[in-house]
Amino acid sequence: MKTEVLKASEESIKKAAEIIKSGGVVGVPTETVYGLGANALSSDAVGKIFEAKGRPKDNPMIVHVSCMEEIIPLVENVPEKAKLLAEKFWPGPLTIIMKKTNLVPSVTSGNLDTVAIRMPSHEVMRKIIKESGCPIAAPSANLSGSPSPTNAKYVYDDMNGKIPLIIDGGESNVGLESTVITLVGEKPRLLRPGGVTPEELCEVLGEIEIDKAVKAKLEENQKASSPGMKYKHYAPKIKVVIIKADTEKYIEYISSQNKKVAALCFEDEKEKITVPCVTYGKSFDASSQAKRLFDALRELDKTDAEIAYAHCPSEEGVGLAVYNRLLRSAGFDVIEL
Ligand code: TXA
Ligand code: MG
Repeated sequence: MKTEVLKASEESIKKAAEIIKSGGVVGVPTETVYGLGANALSSDAVGKIFEAKGRPKDNPMIVHVSCMEEIIPLVENVPEKAKLLAEKFWPGPLTIIMKKTNLVPSVTSGNLDTVAIRMPSHEVMRKIIKESGCPIAAPSANLSGSPSPTNAKYVYDDMNGKIPLIIDGGESNVGLESTVITLVGEKPRLLRPGGVTPEELCEVLGEIEIDKAVKAKLEENQKASSPGMKYKHYAPKIKVVIIKADTEKYIEYISSQNKKVAALCFEDEKEKITVPCVTYGKSFDASSQAKRLFDALRELDKTDAEIAYAHCPSEEGVGLAVYNRLLRSAGFDVIEL
C-alpha cells in the first residue's frame, strides 16, 4: 500500500473522511499526539488499526467526538461529573471513561463494558470527525511500544505502507497523550496523567484517586485498570535510565561512566555537559518538557550511545505526565543519587 501525506486542507480533509467512511484507517493530527483514526462503530475498521499498530487486542481505543450530542448514543448515561469536566476541559487533552452502550463494539472497548471518550481541540481533527459522520477511534499513531508521534513525519516513519493516508496538521501542541480519568467506580480515578493536571481535576471534582500504575510498575499478577499501562511503552531502542539528582551530581555521574553514554537533559544544562546530549525542554517548565520528550526519545536513537541517562523532571503539574512517560521508556529503571 502506498502511503500519501497531505497537508490539511478542505480537500484533504474530505479525502480522509471518505476513507474513514468506507472503513479505512487514516493518520490524523490532534493537539496531544497524532492518532490512527477509523470508524469507532465498525469492528472491521477498528480491526485494521490493531493490525497497523501491532497492538494487543485487549488494549481499548479512545473514541473521539466533535460535540456533546455525539456522546449520548455511546454511553449509558453522561454522569454529572463528566458534564462538569466537559465544561471545563473540552475540547482538549482529557479522556473520560464511562459505561458504554451496545453501539460501541467490543473490539473498540477491548471487551470492557466501558468506553473512553475524548473531544479533541485540534480544528483539523474536529473537521475530520464531522465530515466522517461517525465517532473516530484513534490510538496514538506509533507502532505499539514506540514513542507517540508528534508530527506527520514520525507517523510516516512508523506507518509507511500500512495505511493509505496521513493528514499533516503541524506539530502537536501538547506533545504527550491526553489525561485519562475514569468515572466508573466510587471515586474518580486518574489512570494516565497528561496535559490536564491532577490539581486542575481536583478543582472541578473535589477529590480524585491516582491509580498506582501512574508511578509504579504493575506486579505480574495485578490487573491493570487501564490495559495500556501494563505494556512496555514509549521506548526508544537505546536503553534509558533515569537519574534523580541535582544538576551537579547528575553531570558528575554521567561523566564518570566507562561506556558510550548520552545525556537526556534540560536545555539550560546543555553547555555544562561533556557527553553527547539530547535536550527535552527547560528544567522548570514542564509543558516545554512534555512537548519535546517523545521527539527527544526518537533523537536518542540517532546517537551511537549504548545507554542514555535521563535527568529526572519534577513530578508536579504536567511534570507528572512527563515523569510517567519517561518511567515507562526507561522500563522503571531509576537511580537516586
Ligand atoms: O491523546 C490521546 O489520548 C491520543 C490521541 C490520538 O487522542 N490517543 C491515545 O490513545 O493516546 P492510546 O490508545 O495510545 O491510549 C489510550 C489509553 C490506553 O492506555 C488504553 O488502555 C486506555 O487509554 N483506555 C482506553 N479505553 C479504556 C477503558 N475503557 N478503560 C480503561 N482504559 C482505557
Ligand atoms: Mg499509545
